[in-house]
Amino acid sequence: VTASADDLKRQVGYRAVDDYVRSGMVVGLGTGSTAAYAVERVGHKLSSGELKDIVCIPTSVRTEEQARSLNVPLTILDTHSKLDVAIDGADEVDDALNLVKGRGGALLREKMVEVCAKQFIVIVDESKLVPGLGVSGAMPVEVTPFCWQHTLRQIAALPSVAGCRAEPRRTGDSQLYVTDNQNYIVDLYFDRPIADAHRAAAELLNTVGVVEHGLFLDMATVALVAGKDGIYEKRK
Ligand code: A5P
Repeated sequence: VTASADDLKRQVGYRAVDDYVRSGMVVGLGTGSTAAYAVERVGHKLSSGELKDIVCIPTSVRTEEQARSLNVPLTILDTHSKLDVAIDGADEVDDALNLVKGRGGALLREKMVEVCAKQFIVIVDESKLVPGLGVSGAMPVEVTPFCWQHTLRQIAALPSVAGCRAEPRRTGDSQLYVTDNQNYIVDLYFDRPIADAHRAAAELLNTVGVVEHGLFLDMATVALVAGKDGIYEKRK
């Protein structure tokens, strides 16, 4: 029997908690279908007493609600700005452990939290591994709602993303998608990998109206990858 995609997500989410979370830690909780299993594992290990004195920082309203439902003690960066570990999924992982994140919309809080973690553990199944960033789907950019169409045009004109298609993210009923921070998302689509992700990151952040982007560069410590032959660690 081959493990379903969901089985792989559960295995890798559980493994990250088992291998990297210890009692007494400040832990960043990611967002998405894979990270949800790590959150579940933290909750179960706290209630069984296997883990004690953990405080967690969720990266989205969704994750906060899940953690609350499991009685996981929560804190915020304002009180705990040094995290021992953060665990989160990703949309793409390249060989240097650079990531695309934010197809689930939580990129700003994810980046704010994960950049403060001593260890940032990325949990993915093999389908997320890419030879170059930007081709398996959208590269999300969070923008402020004020004159967002202008900001979208500014983004599309940046040399480092030349040739991309820029589209506002919409919900099922074609309303503009609103993030947890009350911003909008511009999704960038590429037909070849982003040639220079560091340059793209810098140009995007220099664009007034851009709040954050989904390139998570030089942040991940290790990727736990679930494949058909089990889970393995991928490091730089
Ligand atoms: C949330 O905004 C994203 O960055 C997620 O971490 C990413 O989309 C991975 O989600 P899945 O584990 O559901 O694929």
